[in-house]
Amino acid sequence: MNVVASTPDAIATAALALEAGRLVAFPTETVYGLGADAENPAAVADIYKAKGRPSDHPVIVHVAPGADIRYWAKNIPHEADQLIAAFWPGPLTLILKRADHIPDAVSGGQDTVGIRCPSHPVAQQLLRAFKNGKGGVAAPSANKFGHVSPTLAQHVTEEFMQEILPGGLIAAVLDGGQSEVGIESTIVDLSRLATHGPVLLRPGQISSAQLAEVLGVTPASPDAAAPRASGTLDAHYAPQTPVVQVALADLDNVAAQLQARGKTIALLSYQSHPGIVALAIRQLPADAAGYAHDLYAGLRELDHAHADLILVAAIPQDKEWLGVNDRLRRAAFDSRDVLQKILQA
Ligand code: TXA
Ligand code: MG
Repeated sequence: MNVVASTPDAIATAALALEAGRLVAFPTETVYGLGADAENPAAVADIYKAKGRPSDHPVIVHVAPGADIRYWAKNIPHEADQLIAAFWPGPLTLILKRADHIPDAVSGGQDTVGIRCPSHPVAQQLLRAFKNGKGGVAAPSANKFGHVSPTLAQHVTEEFMQEILPGGLIAAVLDGGQSEVGIESTIVDLSRLATHGPVLLRPGQISSAQLAEVLGVTPASPDAAAPRASGTLDAHYAPQTPVVQVALADLDNVAAQLQARGKTIALLSYQSHPGIVALAIRQLPADAAGYAHDLYAGLRELDHAHADLILVAAIPQDKEWLGVNDRLRRAAFDSRDVLQKILQA
Protein backbone atom coordinates (compact mmCIF):
# COMPACT_ATOMS: atom_id res chain seq x y z
CA MET A 1 0.00 0.00 0.00
CA ASN A 2 1.14 3.52 -0.74
CA VAL A 3 0.35 5.00 2.67
CA VAL A 4 3.50 6.79 3.77
CA ALA A 5 4.70 8.76 6.77
CA SER A 6 5.10 12.42 5.78
CA THR A 7 8.89 12.61 5.80
CA PRO A 8 10.57 15.35 3.72
CA ASP A 9 11.50 12.68 1.13
CA ALA A 10 7.96 11.33 0.92
CA ILE A 11 6.57 14.85 0.54
CA ALA A 12 9.10 15.67 -2.21
CA THR A 13 8.18 12.44 -4.03
CA ALA A 14 4.48 13.23 -3.67
CA ALA A 15 5.03 16.73 -5.10
CA LEU A 16 6.79 15.18 -8.13
CA ALA A 17 3.90 12.74 -8.57
CA LEU A 18 1.46 15.68 -8.61
CA GLU A 19 3.65 17.49 -11.16
CA ALA A 20 3.57 14.32 -13.28
CA GLY A 21 -0.24 14.41 -13.29
CA ARG A 22 -0.87 11.77 -10.63
CA LEU A 23 -3.23 11.93 -7.64
CA VAL A 24 -1.95 12.25 -4.05
CA ALA A 25 -4.07 12.15 -0.89
CA PHE A 26 -2.80 14.45 1.85
CA PRO A 27 -3.81 15.66 5.31
CA THR A 28 -5.28 19.07 6.00
CA GLU A 29 -6.49 20.53 9.29
CA THR A 30 -10.13 20.03 8.21
CA VAL A 31 -10.22 16.63 6.47
CA TYR A 32 -7.90 14.69 4.12
CA GLY A 33 -7.91 15.89 0.50
CA LEU A 34 -7.46 14.00 -2.77
CA GLY A 35 -5.14 16.25 -4.73
CA ALA A 36 -4.21 16.84 -8.37
CA ASP A 37 -2.46 19.63 -10.26
CA ALA A 38 -5.25 22.22 -10.61
CA GLU A 39 -3.86 23.32 -13.98
CA ASN A 40 -3.88 19.81 -15.46
CA PRO A 41 -7.42 19.01 -16.64
CA ALA A 42 -6.62 15.30 -17.17
CA ALA A 43 -5.37 15.00 -13.59
CA VAL A 44 -8.43 16.83 -12.28
CA ALA A 45 -10.61 14.46 -14.34
CA ASP A 46 -8.93 11.55 -12.50
CA ILE A 47 -10.14 13.00 -9.17
CA TYR A 48 -13.71 12.83 -10.45
CA LYS A 49 -13.14 9.30 -11.72
CA ALA A 50 -11.68 8.12 -8.39
CA LYS A 51 -14.43 9.76 -6.33
CA GLY A 52 -17.30 8.83 -8.63
CA ARG A 53 -18.27 12.48 -8.51
CA PRO A 54 -20.32 14.30 -11.15
CA SER A 55 -17.97 16.41 -13.28
CA ASP A 56 -19.99 19.61 -12.93
CA HIS A 57 -19.05 19.88 -9.25
CA PRO A 58 -16.20 22.33 -8.62
CA VAL A 59 -13.15 21.47 -6.49
CA ILE A 60 -11.18 23.72 -4.14
CA VAL A 61 -7.71 24.90 -5.21
CA HIS A 62 -5.21 24.71 -2.33
CA VAL A 63 -2.32 27.17 -2.39
CA ALA A 64 0.88 27.63 -0.37
CA PRO A 65 1.14 30.37 2.27
CA GLY A 66 1.92 33.67 0.60
CA ALA A 67 0.73 32.47 -2.84
CA ASP A 68 -0.50 35.13 -5.22
CA ILE A 69 -4.28 34.65 -5.44
CA ARG A 70 -4.31 37.11 -8.33
CA TYR A 71 -2.92 34.28 -10.40
CA TRP A 72 -6.09 32.26 -9.76
CA ALA A 73 -8.80 34.86 -9.46
CA LYS A 74 -9.73 38.18 -11.00
CA ASN A 75 -11.69 41.19 -9.71
CA ILE A 76 -10.49 40.42 -6.20
CA PRO A 77 -12.48 42.48 -3.73
CA HIS A 78 -11.10 44.13 -0.62
CA GLU A 79 -13.20 41.66 1.42
CA ALA A 80 -11.03 38.78 0.14
CA ASP A 81 -7.87 40.47 1.36
CA GLN A 82 -9.50 41.11 4.74
CA LEU A 83 -10.60 37.48 5.17
CA ILE A 84 -7.23 36.17 4.01
CA ALA A 85 -5.41 38.40 6.48
CA ALA A 86 -7.68 37.21 9.29
CA PHE A 87 -8.07 33.49 8.59
CA TRP A 88 -5.34 32.12 6.29
CA PRO A 89 -3.70 29.74 6.59
CA GLY A 90 -6.79 28.03 7.94
CA PRO A 91 -10.16 26.38 7.36
CA LEU A 92 -11.71 29.03 5.11
CA THR A 93 -12.42 28.71 1.37
CA LEU A 94 -13.15 31.80 -0.72
CA ILE A 95 -15.17 31.69 -3.93
CA LEU A 96 -13.93 34.33 -6.37
CA LYS A 97 -14.22 35.05 -10.09
CA ARG A 98 -11.88 32.66 -11.90
CA ALA A 99 -8.92 34.10 -13.84
CA ASP A 100 -9.34 33.49 -17.58
CA HIS A 101 -6.32 31.19 -18.00
CA ILE A 102 -7.38 28.76 -15.23
CA PRO A 103 -8.93 25.62 -16.75
CA ASP A 104 -12.64 25.30 -16.14
CA ALA A 105 -12.23 21.68 -15.08
CA VAL A 106 -11.51 22.91 -11.51
CA SER A 107 -14.74 24.81 -11.27
CA GLY A 108 -17.07 22.37 -12.96
CA GLY A 109 -17.68 24.87 -15.75
CA GLN A 110 -18.65 27.76 -13.41
CA ASP A 111 -16.89 31.11 -13.84
CA THR A 112 -15.61 31.07 -10.27
CA VAL A 113 -12.82 29.34 -8.38
CA GLY A 114 -12.69 28.16 -4.76
CA ILE A 115 -9.32 28.87 -3.07
CA ARG A 116 -7.94 27.89 0.32
CA CYS A 117 -4.56 28.00 2.05
CA PRO A 118 -4.51 25.15 4.60
CA SER A 119 -2.66 25.38 7.91
CA HIS A 120 -1.69 21.70 8.29
CA PRO A 121 2.13 21.54 8.18
CA VAL A 122 2.20 18.54 5.80
CA ALA A 123 -0.24 20.25 3.41
CA GLN A 124 1.92 23.36 3.50
CA GLN A 125 5.15 21.44 2.88
CA LEU A 126 3.52 19.65 -0.05
CA LEU A 127 2.23 22.94 -1.52
CA ARG A 128 5.62 24.58 -1.09
CA ALA A 129 7.38 21.67 -2.82
CA PHE A 130 4.85 21.42 -5.66
CA LYS A 131 5.93 23.71 -8.55
CA ASN A 132 8.12 25.64 -6.08
CA GLY A 133 5.09 26.89 -4.21
CA LYS A 134 3.61 28.52 -7.30
CA GLY A 135 1.12 25.81 -8.18
CA GLY A 136 -2.35 25.00 -6.95
CA VAL A 137 -3.55 21.60 -5.81
CA ALA A 138 -7.19 20.89 -6.61
CA ALA A 139 -8.51 18.73 -3.80
CA PRO A 140 -11.94 17.64 -2.72
CA SER A 141 -12.26 15.58 0.45
CA ALA A 142 -10.63 12.15 -0.08
CA ASN A 143 -13.80 10.05 0.01
CA LYS A 144 -16.19 8.56 -2.53
CA PHE A 145 -18.92 10.99 -3.56
CA GLY A 146 -21.50 11.46 -0.81
CA HIS A 147 -19.61 9.47 1.83
CA VAL A 148 -18.23 10.60 5.17
CA SER A 149 -15.06 12.69 4.80
CA PRO A 150 -11.77 11.18 6.06
CA THR A 151 -10.00 12.55 9.12
CA LEU A 152 -7.30 9.84 9.25
CA ALA A 153 -5.05 8.33 6.54
CA GLN A 154 -6.68 4.98 7.31
CA HIS A 155 -10.10 6.41 6.33
CA VAL A 156 -8.65 7.32 2.93
CA THR A 157 -7.46 3.78 2.35
CA GLU A 158 -10.88 2.42 3.38
CA GLU A 159 -12.48 4.65 0.75
CA PHE A 160 -10.03 3.92 -2.04
CA MET A 161 -9.02 0.24 -1.69
CA GLN A 162 -8.75 -0.21 -5.46
CA GLU A 163 -7.28 3.14 -6.37
CA ILE A 164 -4.31 2.85 -3.99
CA LEU A 165 -3.16 -0.52 -5.35
CA PRO A 166 0.02 -0.37 -7.47
CA GLY A 167 -0.96 1.03 -10.86
CA GLY A 168 -4.12 2.60 -9.39
CA LEU A 169 -5.15 6.22 -9.78
CA ILE A 170 -3.68 7.35 -6.44
CA ALA A 171 0.14 7.51 -6.30
CA ALA A 172 0.41 8.03 -2.53
CA VAL A 173 -1.48 8.73 0.68
CA LEU A 174 0.53 11.01 2.97
CA ASP A 175 -0.17 10.24 6.62
CA GLY A 176 -0.41 13.37 8.77
CA GLY A 177 -2.29 12.08 11.80
CA GLN A 178 -5.81 13.06 12.74
CA SER A 179 -7.26 16.24 11.21
CA GLU A 180 -7.55 18.84 13.95
CA VAL A 181 -10.80 20.55 12.92
CA GLY A 182 -12.60 17.43 11.69
CA ILE A 183 -15.24 19.02 9.44
CA GLU A 184 -14.70 20.71 6.08
CA SER A 185 -13.76 24.36 5.63
CA THR A 186 -16.19 27.24 5.90
CA ILE A 187 -16.99 28.42 2.34
CA VAL A 188 -17.75 32.08 1.63
CA ASP A 189 -18.83 33.29 -1.79
CA LEU A 190 -17.36 36.70 -2.65
CA SER A 191 -18.00 36.38 -6.40
CA ARG A 192 -21.29 38.27 -6.39
CA LEU A 193 -20.67 40.97 -3.80
CA ALA A 194 -22.32 43.79 -5.72
CA THR A 195 -25.65 41.98 -5.94
CA HIS A 196 -25.67 39.56 -3.01
CA GLY A 197 -22.94 40.59 -0.58
CA PRO A 198 -20.86 37.84 1.04
CA VAL A 199 -22.73 34.50 1.16
CA LEU A 200 -21.98 31.61 3.54
CA LEU A 201 -22.16 28.53 1.28
CA ARG A 202 -21.01 25.98 3.85
CA PRO A 203 -20.68 26.54 7.62
CA GLY A 204 -17.54 25.29 9.33
CA GLN A 205 -15.29 26.00 12.29
CA ILE A 206 -14.86 29.65 11.31
CA SER A 207 -18.27 30.97 12.27
CA SER A 208 -20.59 33.49 10.71
CA ALA A 209 -19.96 35.78 13.71
CA GLN A 210 -16.17 35.63 13.16
CA LEU A 211 -16.68 36.45 9.47
CA ALA A 212 -19.02 39.32 10.37
CA GLU A 213 -16.45 40.78 12.72
CA VAL A 214 -13.98 41.09 9.85
CA LEU A 215 -16.42 41.97 7.06
CA GLY A 216 -18.65 44.34 9.00
CA VAL A 217 -21.75 42.46 7.76
CA THR A 218 -23.15 39.03 8.52
CA PRO A 219 -22.81 36.77 5.46
CA ALA A 220 -26.14 35.90 3.83
CA SER A 221 -27.56 32.39 3.45
CA PRO A 222 -27.36 30.84 -0.03
CA ASP A 223 -30.03 31.92 -2.51
CA ALA A 224 -31.22 29.83 -5.46
CA ALA A 225 -28.62 31.36 -7.80
CA ALA A 226 -25.67 30.84 -5.43
CA PRO A 227 -22.71 28.88 -6.85
CA ARG A 228 -23.34 25.15 -6.62
CA ALA A 229 -21.52 23.28 -3.88
CA SER A 230 -21.83 19.50 -3.53
CA GLY A 231 -21.19 19.82 0.19
CA THR A 232 -24.47 21.69 0.24
CA LEU A 233 -26.54 18.91 -1.33
CA ASP A 234 -29.36 17.70 0.92
CA ALA A 235 -27.82 14.25 1.23
CA HIS A 236 -24.05 14.11 1.80
CA TYR A 237 -21.44 13.03 4.36
CA ALA A 238 -23.42 9.81 4.93
CA PRO A 239 -22.36 6.40 6.29
CA GLN A 240 -23.87 3.22 4.76
CA THR A 241 -26.03 2.64 7.84
CA PRO A 242 -29.09 4.91 8.02
CA VAL A 243 -28.50 7.80 10.43
CA VAL A 244 -31.40 9.10 12.54
CA GLN A 245 -31.28 12.04 14.91
CA VAL A 246 -33.37 11.74 18.06
CA ALA A 247 -34.00 14.35 20.76
CA LEU A 248 -32.06 13.54 23.94
CA ALA A 249 -35.30 13.27 25.92
CA ASP A 250 -36.72 10.64 23.52
CA LEU A 251 -33.60 8.54 23.14
CA ASP A 252 -34.24 5.87 25.81
CA ASN A 253 -37.78 5.41 24.63
CA VAL A 254 -36.91 5.18 20.93
CA ALA A 255 -34.05 2.75 21.65
CA ALA A 256 -36.42 0.54 23.68
CA GLN A 257 -39.04 0.54 20.92
CA LEU A 258 -36.43 -0.40 18.31
CA GLN A 259 -35.14 -3.19 20.51
CA ALA A 260 -38.68 -4.49 20.99
CA ARG A 261 -38.97 -4.71 17.19
CA GLY A 262 -35.71 -6.66 16.92
CA LYS A 263 -33.76 -3.77 15.42
CA THR A 264 -30.10 -3.27 16.30
CA ILE A 265 -28.67 0.16 16.90
CA ALA A 266 -25.36 1.97 17.14
CA LEU A 267 -25.36 5.12 19.24
CA LEU A 268 -23.58 8.46 18.90
CA SER A 269 -24.02 10.97 21.69
CA TYR A 270 -22.22 13.60 23.73
CA GLN A 271 -23.71 12.18 26.92
CA SER A 272 -23.71 8.72 28.43
CA HIS A 273 -26.83 6.58 28.17
CA PRO A 274 -26.46 3.72 30.65
CA GLY A 275 -29.97 2.44 29.92
CA ILE A 276 -29.43 1.88 26.19
CA VAL A 277 -28.28 -1.42 24.71
CA ALA A 278 -26.41 -0.92 21.44
CA LEU A 279 -24.01 -2.88 19.20
CA ALA A 280 -21.61 0.02 19.43
CA ILE A 281 -21.61 3.27 21.36
CA ARG A 282 -19.43 6.29 20.77
CA GLN A 283 -19.51 9.18 23.19
CA LEU A 284 -18.14 12.40 21.72
CA PRO A 285 -16.93 15.50 23.60
CA ALA A 286 -19.73 17.82 24.74
CA ASP A 287 -18.22 20.97 23.18
CA ALA A 288 -18.73 21.85 19.51
CA ALA A 289 -15.03 21.87 18.53
CA GLY A 290 -14.32 18.55 20.25
CA TYR A 291 -17.46 17.01 18.76
CA ALA A 292 -16.48 18.15 15.22
CA HIS A 293 -12.96 16.78 15.71
CA ASP A 294 -14.29 13.25 16.42
CA LEU A 295 -17.57 13.22 14.46
CA TYR A 296 -16.49 11.56 11.20
CA ALA A 297 -14.26 8.98 12.88
CA GLY A 298 -17.22 8.22 15.17
CA LEU A 299 -19.65 7.77 12.28
CA ARG A 300 -17.20 5.47 10.48
CA GLU A 301 -16.62 3.37 13.58
CA LEU A 302 -20.37 3.01 14.20
CA ASP A 303 -20.92 2.15 10.52
CA HIS A 304 -18.61 -0.84 11.02
CA ALA A 305 -21.02 -2.25 13.63
CA HIS A 306 -23.51 -2.93 10.78
CA ALA A 307 -26.46 -2.08 12.96
CA ASP A 308 -29.89 -1.42 11.46
CA LEU A 309 -29.66 2.23 12.50
CA ILE A 310 -27.18 4.76 13.82
CA LEU A 311 -29.04 6.84 16.40
CA VAL A 312 -27.56 10.27 16.96
CA ALA A 313 -28.55 12.19 20.08
CA ALA A 314 -29.60 15.59 18.74
CA ILE A 315 -27.01 18.25 19.53
CA PRO A 316 -27.51 21.82 20.73
CA GLN A 317 -28.79 24.31 18.14
CA ASP A 318 -26.48 27.11 19.33
CA LYS A 319 -24.45 29.05 16.78
CA GLU A 320 -21.15 27.34 17.51
CA TRP A 321 -22.78 23.99 16.66
CA LEU A 322 -23.91 25.22 13.20
CA GLY A 323 -21.22 23.37 11.21
CA VAL A 324 -21.81 20.09 13.03
CA ASN A 325 -25.60 20.41 12.77
CA ASP A 326 -25.22 21.01 9.03
CA ARG A 327 -23.15 17.81 8.54
CA LEU A 328 -25.47 15.68 10.70
CA ARG A 329 -28.56 16.93 8.87
CA ARG A 330 -27.06 15.93 5.52
CA ALA A 331 -25.80 12.57 6.86
CA ALA A 332 -29.37 11.84 8.03
CA PHE A 333 -31.22 13.22 5.02
CA ASP A 334 -31.73 9.99 3.06
CA SER A 335 -32.94 8.17 6.17
CA ARG A 336 -35.37 10.86 7.33
CA ASP A 337 -38.37 8.50 7.09
CA VAL A 338 -36.69 5.32 8.31
CA LEU A 339 -37.50 5.60 12.03
CA GLN A 340 -41.14 6.44 11.47
CA LYS A 341 -41.53 3.50 9.07
CA ILE A 342 -40.01 1.05 11.56
CA LEU A 343 -42.06 2.30 14.47
CA GLN A 344 -45.32 2.23 12.49
CA ALA A 345 -44.75 -1.26 11.10
O1 TXA B 1 -11.98 21.53 4.15
C1 TXA B 1 -12.14 21.42 2.93
O2 TXA B 1 -12.67 22.30 2.25
C2 TXA B 1 -11.66 20.13 2.30
C3 TXA B 1 -10.15 20.05 2.37
C4 TXA B 1 -9.59 18.88 1.61
O3 TXA B 1 -9.60 21.25 1.95
N1 TXA B 1 -12.13 20.04 0.95
C5 TXA B 1 -13.42 19.82 0.66
O4 TXA B 1 -13.64 19.68 -0.69
O5 TXA B 1 -14.30 19.73 1.48
P1 TXA B 1 -14.99 19.11 -1.30
O6 TXA B 1 -14.79 19.12 -2.77
O7 TXA B 1 -15.36 17.85 -0.67
O8 TXA B 1 -15.98 20.24 -0.98
C6 TXA B 1 -15.70 21.49 -1.55
C7 TXA B 1 -16.96 22.26 -1.70
C8 TXA B 1 -17.91 21.57 -2.63
O9 TXA B 1 -19.19 21.66 -2.04
C9 TXA B 1 -17.78 22.40 -3.88
O10 TXA B 1 -18.96 22.38 -4.62
C10 TXA B 1 -17.46 23.77 -3.32
O11 TXA B 1 -16.60 23.50 -2.27
N2 TXA B 1 -16.77 24.60 -4.29
C11 TXA B 1 -15.51 24.50 -4.76
N3 TXA B 1 -15.28 25.41 -5.72
C12 TXA B 1 -16.41 26.11 -5.85
C13 TXA B 1 -16.83 27.16 -6.71
N4 TXA B 1 -16.05 27.69 -7.61
N5 TXA B 1 -18.08 27.60 -6.55
C14 TXA B 1 -18.91 27.07 -5.64
N6 TXA B 1 -18.59 26.07 -4.82
C15 TXA B 1 -17.36 25.60 -4.93
MG1 MG C 1 -16.47 16.42 0.19
